[in-house]
Amino acid sequence: MDNYITLADIDNLQELIEEALQLKKENTAAEIGKGKTLGMLFFNPSLRTRLSTEKAAKLLGMEVMVMNADKDGWALEFEDGAVMDSTKAEHIKEAAAVLSEYCDIIAVRAFPELKDKEKDEAELVIRGFKKYASVPVVNLESATGHPLQALTDAITISELKKTKKPKVVLTWAPHPKALPQSVPNSFAEIMQKSDVDFVIANPEGYDLNPEITQNVPVTHNQEEALKNADFVYVKNWSSYTAYGQQPKVKGSWTFNEHKLKITNNAKVMHCLPVRRNVVIADEVLDSYNSVVIQQAGNRTFAAQAVLRRLLEE
Ligand code: CP
Repeated sequence: MDNYITLADIDNLQELIEEALQLKKENTAAEIGKGKTLGMLFFNPSLRTRLSTEKAAKLLGMEVMVMNADKDGWALEFEDGAVMDSTKAEHIKEAAAVLSEYCDIIAVRAFPELKDKEKDEAELVIRGFKKYASVPVVNLESATGHPLQALTDAITISELKKTKKPKVVLTWAPHPKALPQSVPNSFAEIMQKSDVDFVIANPEGYDLNPEITQNVPVTHNQEEALKNADFVYVKNWSSYTAYGQQPKVKGSWTFNEHKLKITNNAKVMHCLPVRRNVVIADEVLDSYNSVVIQQAGNRTFAAQAVLRRLLEE
């Protein structure tokens, strides 16, 4: 593995999942990262990604440097050929090259602005780092994807599934703020690479990018989708077609006990942070069916498996 920017960087998903589960079982420190440094740059907030990736790196013996790039760093210019006579003080060409002098792996979080679809889909930040860094680059959630979260999700389903081919439903849920499509995009991608019966339920106006969902069945009837579900992944996202907006939705899409009862006693997943009683009701989050804490715990082993692959190169 040269970088971990999209799920296409994984050559054998099943092998990587098994490696992560083995790391979880062993839960021991390793030496492979000794003398190596992970540099993490956050242009947006984080709890799980920041701490689980730091823990993963340390379990591999690495040193870790973290920077809140939005607050502490120079404002970066990502456009090639830009005349830098305004607020941007440093170009990605120098920033990525200099970071490569200090770090053996660079990891970056940069959310979309959700204003200009074309600009967000250009993934200027993560692709800028990939282009100008001379060390591997890891995506800690970019404008269109969250591949470390998706790997974690696949690991969690793999360790909890009771049937060879479980039914997995990704369902939209409400949220007061317009959120990116990164998490559902990557989840939809990784489920298409997995041996599952996968369905997406979302209100009209919230269909994800069809280039990502491809042939996955998409329904606007949440309750119909939930029938016989073994896993329900609840997540909000803003509209892809009316880009970044939140069109009005008919009916209630909050995932509550009534919806859970329609499923096959499903395990309920969410990437966190979750808005209680808006996205998922207390009665579900506090129930035996919720696996959100186990899922978040698995973030460490997903990151450890990925970082180890990058260190092995
Ligand atoms: N799920 C996730 O990426 O959590 P954080 O935003 O807290 O890192």
